[in-house]
Amino acid sequence: MNNPELTTYEKYVNPLQAKLLKANGVEKTFIKAEGHTLTYKNAKGETGSIIDCLCGYGSLMFGHNHPRIHDTVKDFLNNKTPIHTQFAPRPITARLAERLSGLAEKYLDEDYVVRFANSGAEAVDLAIKHAEFQRVLKVQELTKKLDQKFNDLEARWNDGEVEIPGELFAETELREQIFADTLTPGELRGYISRLNSVALSSRPIIFALKKAFHGKSVAAAQMTHNETFRRAFLYFGMQTVFIDHEDLSEIEFIMDEVSQTFYDFVINKKTNQISLVEKDYPAYTAAIIEPIQGEGGIHAIPGSTLRDFRNICDHKNFPLIFDEIQCGMGRSGTLFACQPHDVAPDMVLFAKSIGGGVAKNAAVLIKRANYEDAFGIIHSSTFAEDELSASVALTVFDMLEEDEGAAYERATELGNRLMEGFRELSRKYPGTIKEVRGIGLMIGVEFFQDVDADSAVVRLVSHHNRLGYSLFSYLQEVQGIRAVPTASAPSTLRLEPGVTLTDDEVDTIIQGFEGLCKTLYYQDSYQLLQHVGNQDRSSRDHKIRDYRRDEVKQKRAHYKEKSRVGVPKIGFIAHVMDPVNISDNDPALERLTNEERAGIYNANNVTIMCNAPSVPKRITASFGKEVDVQFYILSRTASQVLGDLNGPGLDDLREAIYDTALQAKKDGCTAFGLGMFTSVVTNNGKALPRVPGMPYTSGNALTTGMGFKAMQEATEKTGKQLDGCTAAVVGGAGNIGQVYSALLAERVAHLMLVGSGRAGSVKRLSRAYHRVYETLIETIRKEGKESLSGLALDVANLTSVQDFIAELGDKDMPKNTGKDVATLIQQEFGTDPFVTVTDSLATIASADIVVCAASASEPFVGSDIVKHEAVVVDIGVPLNAKQDVKDRHDVTYMQGGLAKLPFQQEMTETVKNLPHGTVYGCVAETMLMGLSGSGRNFSFGDITRKQVKEVTALAESYGFAATVPQTRGL
Ligand code: F0G
Repeated sequence: MNNPELTTYEKYVNPLQAKLLKANGVEKTFIKAEGHTLTYKNAKGETGSIIDCLCGYGSLMFGHNHPRIHDTVKDFLNNKTPIHTQFAPRPITARLAERLSGLAEKYLDEDYVVRFANSGAEAVDLAIKHAEFQRVLKVQELTKKLDQKFNDLEARWNDGEVEIPGELFAETELREQIFADTLTPGELRGYISRLNSVALSSRPIIFALKKAFHGKSVAAAQMTHNETFRRAFLYFGMQTVFIDHEDLSEIEFIMDEVSQTFYDFVINKKTNQISLVEKDYPAYTAAIIEPIQGEGGIHAIPGSTLRDFRNICDHKNFPLIFDEIQCGMGRSGTLFACQPHDVAPDMVLFAKSIGGGVAKNAAVLIKRANYEDAFGIIHSSTFAEDELSASVALTVFDMLEEDEGAAYERATELGNRLMEGFRELSRKYPGTIKEVRGIGLMIGVEFFQDVDADSAVVRLVSHHNRLGYSLFSYLQEVQGIRAVPTASAPSTLRLEPGVTLTDDEVDTIIQGFEGLCKTLYYQDSYQLLQHVGNQDRSSRDHKIRDYRRDEVKQKRAHYKEKSRVGVPKIGFIAHVMDPVNISDNDPALERLTNEERAGIYNANNVTIMCNAPSVPKRITASFGKEVDVQFYILSRTASQVLGDLNGPGLDDLREAIYDTALQAKKDGCTAFGLGMFTSVVTNNGKALPRVPGMPYTSGNALTTGMGFKAMQEATEKTGKQLDGCTAAVVGGAGNIGQVYSALLAERVAHLMLVGSGRAGSVKRLSRAYHRVYETLIETIRKEGKESLSGLALDVANLTSVQDFIAELGDKDMPKNTGKDVATLIQQEFGTDPFVTVTDSLATIASADIVVCAASASEPFVGSDIVKHEAVVVDIGVPLNAKQDVKDRHDVTYMQGGLAKLPFQQEMTETVKNLPHGTVYGCVAETMLMGLSGSGRNFSFGDITRKQVKEVTALAESYGFAATVPQTRGL
């Protein structure tokens, strides 16, 4: 049951985010917020509440809807106080600025003016604009002064007071180009301008830190480290250098590399001698730092680093900006996060909590000594300095500062209690929490991502760096705690509650996290998934059970032990067959109903993900050769994949398959098998871009070859000879069906090609019918008739056919060969006695062998039309034969295309639900590509009878065999 409000949000606001919420099973909307309690209503109309620790991305230092802030807003509105009086003094804004400036004086011992903005990113823009404006003014000052000197010099030179020696440039890059002993003032101006053009045309540099987040406006995004947010906008041209805060030598190195010189000159008043002067050019706009990084995963920058930056900025004369949008406003236990470190920046930024949870506001404090008055016009905004926001902010500062800063102390106390609780959990449930970081109410709990976890769910999300989103979903939906990871630190849950959080709430939060840690510790993925795609939670089983097996890790250790160089590895991609199979590799999920399993897949329709590659399985073949097999499983079901085939998702699906092939290449694979429907949706590999050194195969040749062999042997076991049998191919128009028909035509007495009865099926079948004769003539010409029996031998013995072949001589086979031979036979016999084409399924009642090769979504071949003691080979996906055929004791039924591994080796622990010692023919064919190291595609696009024979022979030479049912009715 979907939440209609989320659907509207998806359609009109943010489709991707809505889909991600759905995929993670978090669909509820919130209808009331008070303190840290969010009340929700779910799709069934039921209400409930959760504890919010996301708190407006850390913008609610006093929780949601604090009564004092409400009173401030109500009074303001009741008094009809002007909110917008642009171009007039704004008394409340002025008071707020005075207050903030006073607080900065008190805590940072520095005098600032305050400018306002509407959001964090806008505050960042404002600050960087001011810094760059200041830098450009410095450059202008340099060039203006130089220009004045040129004029002055020219006047004096005209009066014969000074001489300009060419030697002036002896130490510069121009030394090779100036030969004159003396220069004119115009020449001097030209040469110096040329030297200065290098500095003047250079782009300024901004220094920021790795893991930094400063917002997503065009400018702020350029200073945000996560490439996802900034890559597309690099051409806008800002130049940010990201420094590792643990290694500031980098910044010195960069400064050495990019430092620029500005040339100027002086005239000695006494001697009238002129000399060149080199000055440092202002090449840096600013350095911007979050004293405690937030979005990057909660990382406190050491005070010593902040002070080092202060020294660098002082030394090179460019401003230091502290972005305290997230860590400031008391969150870290002091008003300014930088306060304890005894360092005052040139600018400090506040946003988020300054709005008291109701207003959008931001403040930029700029050192008065640096502030450029002209900037008052350079930068402004309609809504900045609105009086309502200022009024709210004044109340917020009252609340922070009163009772001798009790709020700051509470932030520290609450933060410590929470962090102690989390650290205790990390000791109690080892392997779950990796690190607890934070200061005050800025807390990050980082979890281990584990691609070798027992839970397939944990492996999948860890492999895709998305563990945190599953944990968020579980915490919110099951434990009623809201803590979300960030895009830049997806395995860290961030908690930024406000100081009004109660002690009881702290206990509940820790209890909720305990449930999470226990779930992870016991690998109970049922708990992680039970709510996804299933809004009805009444049937939930909350008991966390122990599913630890240490299976994958042991396999990995075992594989490492025996891994040696030189063993080729192949990759094989497959998908989940049916939602039911989700529990095949994750027993915890057996507790989900079939409906719930389907719901999970339907909900997760956003991105196509491939699980972490399986631990390779080593298979030994004949000649002592070995090959490692590594599986890649797409988290999509057969019906989703087929849906993609005929829908808009086809390109995405192919891209996901191609990406997996690239991944397999990176993982060292030398061949790539397209399993299950991945071969169908890629036209057996042809629709995929190729990967160098990585041939593809659909595995269809060996699947067909092994199936055919098994059928042959099974028929002989029933006491019949193939050359006395009638065989029917149902759905013979497809590639595999056609190849089966061609192979059968070489053996059986009579062949029937049976259509599906759908429009055009007889036409498609007639093409397959002609192909049977075409292939037969080709075989007779190339190989003679020795190996033939049944109808093939009868046809080869016809005089008309022998004449036809004789007439061809050495020529290439004409295009219509199949059709011509069919016509010859029809003319000779009236109707074709060897091969029958029919649209009537009932005719299979006379067939001793039935090959089912139709693409149909439901089984349709029933027991009533299957002959007594028939051999039925079902290669349809999904299967064509109904259950009653499989149940018949006289019928030998087999699923076509399995291969027996050499030396009775087992793969059933990797590929489930197969008879012991067997594997799918397509997997075996991929192994053969690895074993033979041929480097070429095997089954690629349509396969031929010849390929089937070659690959089957190769398989046999490596010790693979066909699997023949031991008893009827297998
Ligand atoms: N600077 C810092 C340090 C921030 O944390 C944020 C936003 C901004 C600037 C931009 O502020 O969103 O008001 O434009 N941080 C949020 C977060 C989005 O998830 O950490 P904005």
